[in-house]
Amino acid sequence: MMKPICLLFLILGMAAAQESKSIRLPAPDLSGGKPLMQALRERKTSREFSAKPLPPQALADLLWSAFGINRPATGGRTAPSAMNAQEIDVYVAMAAGLYLYEPAKNSLELVLPEDIRAVTGRQAFVKDAPVNLVYVADFSRAKKFGERKEFLAAADAGFISQNVYLYCASSGLATGVRASFDEQALSRAMHLKSDQKVILAQAVGYPRPPSP
Ligand SMILES: Cc1cc2nc3c(=O)[nH]c(=O)nc-3n(C[C@H](O)[C@H](O)[C@H](O)COP(=O)(O)O)c2cc1C
Repeated sequence: MMKPICLLFLILGMAAAQESKSIRLPAPDLSGGKPLMQALRERKTSREFSAKPLPPQALADLLWSAFGINRPATGGRTAPSAMNAQEIDVYVAMAAGLYLYEPAKNSLELVLPEDIRAVTGRQAFVKDAPVNLVYVADFSRAKKFGERKEFLAAADAGFISQNVYLYCASSGLATGVRASFDEQALSRAMHLKSDQKVILAQAVGYPRPPSP
C-alpha cells in the first residue's frame, strides 16, 4: 500500500501536470494599435514569416481580437455569428503543441503536445509561421443551422479571420488566411470529432525581414 506522503507527492505531481496543460494568457491590452482606417489601408495577405515566436501579450491580444469576449455581461464576442451560435473554435498550432483558445478563461488549453503546423496548409511557409490559427466549426453547437450549416460556419469564420487581419495590420504583424489544406489529414492530426469541421486556417507572425 502507498504511504500517505507518496500519495501526497503523486497528487501534487498530477496537479502540476494538469496546470502545465493550460496556459493563462495576460489580459488583452485594449488600448493602442493603429487607427482603424490606417489598419484597413495596411491590411494584406503575407506568405513570408519570421520564426520569432509571438510574446504572450501579442498572443492574448490576437486571440481576443479574433473571437474574444467583448461584452462579459452577455458573453458577446468580437466577431458576429449566425444566430449567435458561437460555433467556431479557434485552435492555435505552435511549435509547443496544439492548443484550444478558451475565451471565457482567457487561456489556451493543450490539445496535443505536438507541432502540427506543417499539416495546417499545403504551402511551405505554414511551418515557418510561429502561430497557425485553425478555425473549426463545432456543428453540435449549431443544430439550428440545418442544411445551411457549412455556409453559415464559413461566413462566421470569415469574420474572425478579418478581425485577425485587422489586428495584425494594426500591430505590425504578418498574416494570411487559407482554405488550402488537406482536410482529412488536418482533422486527423487535430483529433477532431465527427461533428467538427475545419473551415479555414490563418498564419500569424512577424514579417520576415528582407534578405541582405
Ligand atoms: C476564403 C479564402 C481562402 C484563401 N486561401 C488561401 C490559401 O489557401 N493560400 C493562400 O496563399 N492564400 C489564400 N487566401 C488569400 C488570398 O489569396 C488573398 O486574400 C488574395 O490574393 C488577395 O490578397 P490580399 O489579401 O493581400 O488583398 C485566401 C483568402 C480567402 C478569403
